[in-house]
Amino acid sequence: MAFEKAAHGLCTLLCLLVQAAAFAPEPRITWQQPEVSLTRFQELGISNYSTLLLSEDKEVLYIGAREVIFAVNSLDISEKKNEAYWRVTEEKSAGCEKKGKSRQTDCLNYIRVLQPLNETSLYVCGTSAFHPVCDFLELSSFELMGKSEDGKGKCPFDPAHSYTSVMVDGELYSGTFYTFLGSEPIIGRHSSQGLLRTEYAVPWLNEPRFVHADVIRAPENNPDGDDDKVYFFFTEVSVEYEFFNKLLIPRIARVCKSDQGGLRTLQKRWTTFLKARLICHSTENNLIFNVVNDVYIVKSPDLQDPVVYGVFTPHLNNVGMSAVCAYSLSAIEEVFSKGKYMQSATVEAHTKWVQYNGQVPKPRPGACINNEAKAMNYTSSLNLSDKTLKFVKDHLLMDESVTPIGRKPRLVLQNVTYTQIVVDRVTALDGNTYDVMFLSTDKGILHKSISHDTEMHIIEETVLFPDHESVETLILSNKQNKRYIYAGSNAGVVQSPVAFCEKLSSCAECVLTRDPYCAWHPVKNTCVNILLESNTDRVLIQSLSGDSSQCPDSSDKGIQESMRYSVKAGSTVELKCSYKSNLASTVWTFNGNSLSMASSKYIVNHALILLNVTESDAGTYQCWSQELVLNKEFSLLIIEHVVEIKKTPPPLIRTTPTTTSAQISTRTEGLILTTRFFTMQKEKTTRMSTTPVMTTSSGGAVTYVNDKMTTPTASLSEVFSSVPNAEMGRALYLSNNNDCSLLIILVIVFFLLFVSLLTYNCYKGFLPDTCLKYRSAMLSGKKKTPPGVKDCEQGLKENLVEKGCTENQCSGTPKAPLDTGYETDPDCANGNITIKEEVTTEETEKDQPFDVKCEIKYADSDGD
Ligand SMILES: *[C@@H]1O[C@H](CO)[C@@H](O)[C@H](O)[C@H]1NC(C)=O
Ligand SMILES: *[C@@H]1O[C@H](CO)[C@@H](O)[C@H](O)[C@H]1NC(C)=O
Repeated sequence: MAFEKAAHGLCTLLCLLVQAAAFAPEPRITWQQPEVSLTRFQELGISNYSTLLLSEDKEVLYIGAREVIFAVNSLDISEKKNEAYWRVTEEKSAGCEKKGKSRQTDCLNYIRVLQPLNETSLYVCGTSAFHPVCDFLELSSFELMGKSEDGKGKCPFDPAHSYTSVMVDGELYSGTFYTFLGSEPIIGRHSSQGLLRTEYAVPWLNEPRFVHADVIRAPENNPDGDDDKVYFFFTEVSVEYEFFNKLLIPRIARVCKSDQGGLRTLQKRWTTFLKARLICHSTENNLIFNVVNDVYIVKSPDLQDPVVYGVFTPHLNNVGMSAVCAYSLSAIEEVFSKGKYMQSATVEAHTKWVQYNGQVPKPRPGACINNEAKAMNYTSSLNLSDKTLKFVKDHLLMDESVTPIGRKPRLVLQNVTYTQIVVDRVTALDGNTYDVMFLSTDKGILHKSISHDTEMHIIEETVLFPDHESVETLILSNKQNKRYIYAGSNAGVVQSPVAFCEKLSSCAECVLTRDPYCAWHPVKNTCVNILLESNTDRVLIQSLSGDSSQCPDSSDKGIQESMRYSVKAGSTVELKCSYKSNLASTVWTFNGNSLSMASSKYIVNHALILLNVTESDAGTYQCWSQELVLNKEFSLLIIEHVVEIKKTPPPLIRTTPTTTSAQISTRTEGLILTTRFFTMQKEKTTRMSTTPVMTTSSGGAVTYVNDKMTTPTASLSEVFSSVPNAEMGRALYLSNNNDCSLLIILVIVFFLLFVSLLTYNCYKGFLPDTCLKYRSAMLSGKKKTPPGVKDCEQGLKENLVEKGCTENQCSGTPKAPLDTGYETDPDCANGNITIKEEVTTEETEKDQPFDVKCEIKYADSDGD
């Protein structure tokens, strides 16, 4: 039945909203386009911009897309410098199709490897219609050399399969799948000596999904004589834990650069392949994040201990959770170089993995050829003893796991699925270094966050792809003064600066953003990016704890705009106040005192509405933002409105509109208002900054300047005249972030929608006979109303109480409408115009007293 369907849809909607009400922390600022302009690159007919490579020296960004490689200016990626098409031949495409693959999607060449080889060329590989091929891209001519090297083991066959690669000293390390079917995972090194790889066996790699690979160079002259190491990150099916289902485990694996494989045992196989489990648990909310989506290693030459950052999600991520965990490389190395090994034992025809407690051969199995090995005359893995090699072959899984720094995630967030991460290390003016994390989501959004003391702060979120394209690849350019984020998706590539300091117009705002990139420049009177300032000495003001006490007096009160209005008594005034922070609440003062919310004053959607203004309303209204930063409250004057009353008294004419149609329209308004409540909450994630606007029309009716929502027919005054007082109070709470009130409001909203649905269905005759009685009673009642009779609003409300609710028993308790005392002549006339329209259409079959479907769709569509 239509009713049941609608009710079900409603529940889905509500359930989603209830969930959405519970998450924190929120990004403090939301940047949308065109508010911030980001540079884009996309070519007509080209998709899957999946591989990015940055050459900071040449200032070129290389982009590997489907069947083409581009070179663009890295300072302005919209400027294309070169392109090299690399299409599959007709013959190959046909062959691929014969094997049962789709010609339009699978049998194409997806670029998967794009690595620097030397000064003059790049090494590129593509899936090439399920027949991976690699080639050299000559940079001077930007042409492929047509070498057509076999890409097996370097690049997946299937574009849907995972892959990762890193070029180290001209040798390609890759993690991918070796076969057409994708059944054989491999971590390998491709060099002139051939392929060195993992054994094809479950303990080595078990259905992995590769996400990242990177090299960590051993320090020069290190005391252990250690080797450079390449780390791989992936999620695989666990062998060590028993579970009724496949249990996924995030892993780190590492190999040594000078590994040559064994002579007899482990011939052409890694002798240094060890892997360990990465732990990312949140004990506070009892969550286990066991899928690693991406990893970024912060390593700079001056950094003693590189930090490995990973973004994780739980296995069944139906609630949309993400976490970031950080690991110190020394902790990782500790596990590999000192930890206990695991080994499998067969117990009753059942393989169990247990800690190995026996003797460990020397030199330590899986270790690089370091001073210890050299002292024992082992100069290469080729002459390692069989004992060591046999041991490592069966003990490549470490028993110890790698625990994150602080033993817990840096960040846990709900309703977000992070796909990629890059981290920039910034030295703030306080001399401390901060790891600024840039996290992309599967909805095309970028979060920027830092941890300050123990608290995590999401400075801002930027909408990179307005079409919600998932960010597939993210890279950072961190040259001193040219820092950018580049993000690739199926639809294109976006370049974003690392900070939008210049958008913050006052010292207090600049400081409250708590962005290590941003500081207030008192001379220039702007918020500047400290990395772009040549002289970053004491002149600049920055406080990562949000303390703006150092701000010069002239600017410490924030935006400090002052608006003046001269209005007629009896008119309605809207005073706007919008502030960029999603974490701040706004507070109004009147002539220096806190504003008492009389029945004629409402705060709706960042605006203060004064209904029916009188002499006593004249004065100065100030809007303050209040924000809690590290348990300290900061207040900031956002805007000041000065309202004066013109001396001409407004005419008061009482008129009487028709009853029934007005009753209907009031109902409709109630519905519209409820959708507004949804919008208000939703809007917080997509809020735009608005310039203060106040509009009064001559007779006192409000033209509501609607910056975000489009309420179909209702003017604000209509909405107000029909909303009970209690609900207005709740609207106020809503904007103050009160989750509990939100729940209450949702219940009310649900109830109202339910009632409306019921009434609608009742009206339409979908419901059983009992209801039909009411329906006919209602319809016949309508016909009796003489059309065109001008009732006053007051009369209409009385009617709503007496008839409207008693007739529709389903609606439960009658709702007493609010008497706002707001009855001025043009408004009443306005009301009549709409009422009349409804009266004329009322008698036709098409008539829908309140279009429930439309309303639901409206609330719904706002959600996406
Ligand atoms: C390529 O992009 C299209 C959308 O443009 C997407 O549907 C498809 O899944 C992508 N393919 C791969 C292998 O990423
Ligand atoms: C290592 O080799 C050298 C000469 O090749 C020999 O003198 C020395 O005893 C050997 N050391 C060990 C520990 O085998």
